[in-house]
Amino acid sequence: MTATLDSPVGTQHRGAVDLRGVGKVFGRGADAVTALTDVDLRVQPGEFVVLLGASGCGKTTLLNLVAGLDRPTSGSVTVDSGRPAVMFQEPALLPWLDAGRNVELPLRLSGVGRAARRERAAQLLDLVRLSGQARKRPHALSGGMRQRVALARALAATTTNGTTSSPANGTSTDGGLLLMDEPFAALDAITRDFLQGELRRIWQATRVAVLFVTHDVREAVRLVQRVVLLSSRPGTVVREWDLGAAGADREELTEEITSRLREVISTHART
Ligand SMILES: Nc1ncnc2c1ncn2[C@@H]1O[C@H](COP(=O)(O)OP(=O)(O)O)[C@@H](O)[C@H]1O
Ligand SMILES: [Mg+2]
Repeated sequence: MTATLDSPVGTQHRGAVDLRGVGKVFGRGADAVTALTDVDLRVQPGEFVVLLGASGCGKTTLLNLVAGLDRPTSGSVTVDSGRPAVMFQEPALLPWLDAGRNVELPLRLSGVGRAARRERAAQLLDLVRLSGQARKRPHALSGGMRQRVALARALAATTTNGTTSSPANGTSTDGGLLLMDEPFAALDAITRDFLQGELRRIWQATRVAVLFVTHDVREAVRLVQRVVLLSSRPGTVVREWDLGAAGADREELTEEITSRLREVISTHART
C-alpha cells in the first residue's frame, strides 16, 4: 500500500473505517425504532469485509452512516479515506448518458479535465470488461452490464478525492473505499455468480477497501476475507469469521454461518 503525502502522520495505523459504539435510533418517543446498537467495526485499508444480516437488521442504516448520508445517534464513525463511493441494488445510471459518460461523471463533478477523465473511464470500463460498450446507453445493456458500469463509476468516484493516487496510475485506487449495498441482489443467479467472481478480481487489482452488505450467506463466504454477522434489529456485531485463514473450509463455514444467522433471527422472533 502506497502512503500518500497528504495523509497526516499516523493515520496509516487507523482503519479505512472505524465505528465505535455506534447506535442509531429513528424517530422519537413511542414511535422510536432502534436500528443499530453499540456497533464496533473496523475495516482496514484494502480489506474486503462483508456485513451479513437478516432483512431489516440495520445494514443499509450502517452503510448510510459510513457514507456520511446520515449521522449516528451515539458513538463515532470515522472514515479515513476521503469520500467513499456507494453502489446500490439498482445501478442508478443516468439514462441519457452512455456507459463511458456515466463512468466519467464523478470525475467531471470533481473537476478532472476531459482528456484525463476519458482515459480513466476507458481504463475502468476495461477493468469491468466493458471496453466495447462505452458508447451504449444503459437501456441497451443487460442488468449485469449496467451493474458493471455502476461498479466502474463507483471506482472512478474513489479516485476523485484528494487522498488517492493519480488517475494516470493504472487502475490503482489505494486509499479508496467502496460501499456496496446488496449490489447483485436483483440479478439472476448466473449473472450474480459471475459478478461475484469479477468483484474479487477487481478488488485484487485495485486494492480498494470494500464494505459489502448482504443477507446471502453463500455470497458472503464466496466473496471475502472477513465476514461480520449483525444480529437482528437492533443490529449489533455478534460474530466474525476470518475466511482468509489458511485451510478455511468454505462449505463448512457456510453451514456454520447459516446456523448462526438462523439462531440470531429466531432469538429476535421470540422477543
Ligand atoms: N429513515 C428511517 N426512518 C425510520 N425507520 C427507519 C428508517 N430507515 C430505516 N428504518 C428502520 O430501521 C431498521 C433497519 O433498516 P435497514 O437499515 O434498511 O435494514 P436492512 O438494510 O438490514 O434491511 C428497519 O426496521 C427500518 O424500518
Ligand atoms: Mg438494506
